[in-house]
Amino acid sequence: MKKISLTGIKPTGSLHIGNYFGAIKPALDLTKEYDARYFIADYHALNTVKDPAELEPSIREVAAGWLASGLDPERVIFYRQSSVPEVFELTVMLMAFTSKGLLNRAHAYKAAVQENLDKKNDPDAGINMGLFTYPALMAADIILFDSDVVPVGKDQVQHIEMAQDIAQSVNANYKKNILKVPQAVVTENVAIVPGLDGRKMSKSYNNTIPLFTPENHLRKLIMRIVTNSQCVDEPKDPEGSQIFLLYKLFASKGEQDALAARYRAGGMGWGEAKEELFRVVNRELAPLRERFNAIYADRSGLDRILAAGAEKARSIAAATVKRFRKTAGID
Ligand code: ADP
Ligand code: TRP
Repeated sequence: MKKISLTGIKPTGSLHIGNYFGAIKPALDLTKEYDARYFIADYHALNTVKDPAELEPSIREVAAGWLASGLDPERVIFYRQSSVPEVFELTVMLMAFTSKGLLNRAHAYKAAVQENLDKKNDPDAGINMGLFTYPALMAADIILFDSDVVPVGKDQVQHIEMAQDIAQSVNANYKKNILKVPQAVVTENVAIVPGLDGRKMSKSYNNTIPLFTPENHLRKLIMRIVTNSQCVDEPKDPEGSQIFLLYKLFASKGEQDALAARYRAGGMGWGEAKEELFRVVNRELAPLRERFNAIYADRSGLDRILAAGAEKARSIAAATVKRFRKTAGID
């Protein structure tokens, strides 16, 4: 039997190049080797997105984004988290094995508390229980499907470690391995995709290149990348420039070597470097964008694919919940 790969993406805004290289592509690569279950973490998004006019299109965008990037729903079980109520049943069961101290240590929660303290606010201000219990819901997402590996960006590794802790607590209590203990898989060379300002590309920093943005906007964004004040003649260090770091994600090895040599030789200005970057980015994204637009527009087609995926997911999920309930004495 093949091992299982599972991951989810939160629909909290437009997909960007960081999501593509850090999450979507590595996950799709794993589908060659693993049985995959990939989903849209819409209840996770509800913690922060309270406007339905924002959430609904974002869910469809993430769904269409996965499909446009090459996910084959015949081979991958592809669903919305909210369509699998067993996730929430398992979350409640796992909570009984999740120490509050563990959740206190979660980076996202700690950062929110620290921000409040820094502003001399009440430490709980603006923090909902969804944020606090986020790692328990995520553990349920993972454990429910007997996942072996979870492809994620570096920032998510702590959550996978928490899922391991929680699964191990359950197994230790019942003295049998009723839950699979998952492993994180991080793609090392693209672990952090830089944004337009050189920080990690992230919606929260407003520095993203959206994956499906129209060509003219793509060009505008690339031209906006922050550079230093070196003039055209000066030799430049390719590895020190986020233009080149982004270029490496899209260009062949030969193209990378050739452009790196031009950086080092001097005589190439940032404007030209950006033009080169735009060329390779658009080369890869143009066909993706076209597929995305067609899939996004076909609302009923998309709903059918997600409904079929949810049905498959629920039959697997029901078996895990049943196994746990039986072991727990809740039959
Ligand atoms: P954002 O930081 O924009 O809110 P998310 O937290 O929704 O992005 O990330 C969704 C997935 O994409 C996660 O697996 C995350 O690790 C990955 N990811 C996000 N930004 C990047 C980035 N700049 N580089 C690599 N992976 C990323
Ligand atoms: N927390 C993940 C993120 O912010 C999304 C997510 C939710 C997830 N459930 C998951 C990722 C289960 C992997 C497995 O990116």
